[in-house]
Amino acid sequence: MNDRAASVSPAFDFDRVIERRGTHASKWDLIARYSGIHAPDAIPMWVADMDFAAPPGVTEALAAETSLAVHGYYGDTGTWAQALAEWFARRHDWKIDPAWVSPTPGVVSGLGLILQAVSEPGDEVVVFPPAYHAFRRIILANERRILDAQLVERDGRYFMDLDALRAQLTPATKVVFFCSPHNPGGNVWSRDEIRALAALCAERDHILVSDEIHCDLLLDGARHTPTIIAAPEVADRLITCVAATKTFNLAGAHVGACVTSNAALKRRLDARVMASGLGSYNRFGMIATEAAWRTGDAWLDALLPYLAANRDLFDARIVAAAPGARSMRLDATYLAWVDFSGTGLAPADVAARVKNRARIFASPGSQFGPGGDTWLRFNFAIPRPILEEALGRLDDAFSDLRR
Ligand SMILES: Cc1ncc(COP(=O)(O)O)c(C=O)c1O
Repeated sequence: MNDRAASVSPAFDFDRVIERRGTHASKWDLIARYSGIHAPDAIPMWVADMDFAAPPGVTEALAAETSLAVHGYYGDTGTWAQALAEWFARRHDWKIDPAWVSPTPGVVSGLGLILQAVSEPGDEVVVFPPAYHAFRRIILANERRILDAQLVERDGRYFMDLDALRAQLTPATKVVFFCSPHNPGGNVWSRDEIRALAALCAERDHILVSDEIHCDLLLDGARHTPTIIAAPEVADRLITCVAATKTFNLAGAHVGACVTSNAALKRRLDARVMASGLGSYNRFGMIATEAAWRTGDAWLDALLPYLAANRDLFDARIVAAAPGARSMRLDATYLAWVDFSGTGLAPADVAARVKNRARIFASPGSQFGPGGDTWLRFNFAIPRPILEEALGRLDDAFSDLRR
């Protein structure tokens, strides 16, 4: 075990391998369905959930609920939004009034509800590809159109090209989906970058949706600036989406929140929530996520150096395994983003090696839209013994390149 992680996380055993096969774990039990890998020893490095036990406070809260054994409708007494507000004040210096918060059954469903609240079918929604694939899915499912504002890579980092975007905008462009920190690539956007985007939204009267679900997963002390703090002047056109689920490995809880200080905008969103019958919340999800925000600080503080050490190990080994491969340096997230174009191999060959030789399910870069074709995304939020096994297999899968 890496010394850095060992010295920081004696209380939490992130090295422990928990058998998730046969537990309705999408990540493990749907490998064959989504990847075509049928090997029983396949390693999933695709969907963004971690193979670590949740914070003990979450387990205790759920155990208390289980022993109560009565699981009726959840009564929202306000403690959940209060816990959310206290977390963001404590961790990100962001003072949220609980009255700004609308719970949703996850961030992606929140994005869909926002689109329904602020745009019409046929309207254009800006995304910055390569970008989280569900942005594309939810835009198209809501019969809106995608306007791709291609990210530009410089010195191993992504940048937004807002001049190019300005030239692409049309009267039909109504909404901007901003991912902060960015997935994939793990960019922590600077205050100036956020302000420049916010200014463009103000200039063109766009609703700015800031998906900050990865904002707690910061590596090496990186600092996340909430969009509302970078650009308070756009508060009236801003909806920020947050969740405890990514931070604390509770994705199955399916609870997120949309936050906006614009009361009229919130009413429009809440009307869509009501129209979809979503005004009553998942009891288990609310209990788990409230407990996470209230009790999860020490767990997260121990997790982050463990993830940083996994990132360093993964990056060093993938580059050594496949000469010419490049792993983008992540400031945030646990999703390594690797460009194989420098290996000289065709993307299909790379994919086949990872899938068939290494028996690893990584997310295909093409899922993330234009600019992703030669990339694969690897989720390294896994116990180190499994990561070591995966890296050994990747080493074998590309061994002929090193002869
Ligand atoms: C940027 C981003 N937004 C949202 C989600 C998923 O959110 P939820 O499961 O709450 O719908 C993910 C999951 O990977 C993500 O990366």
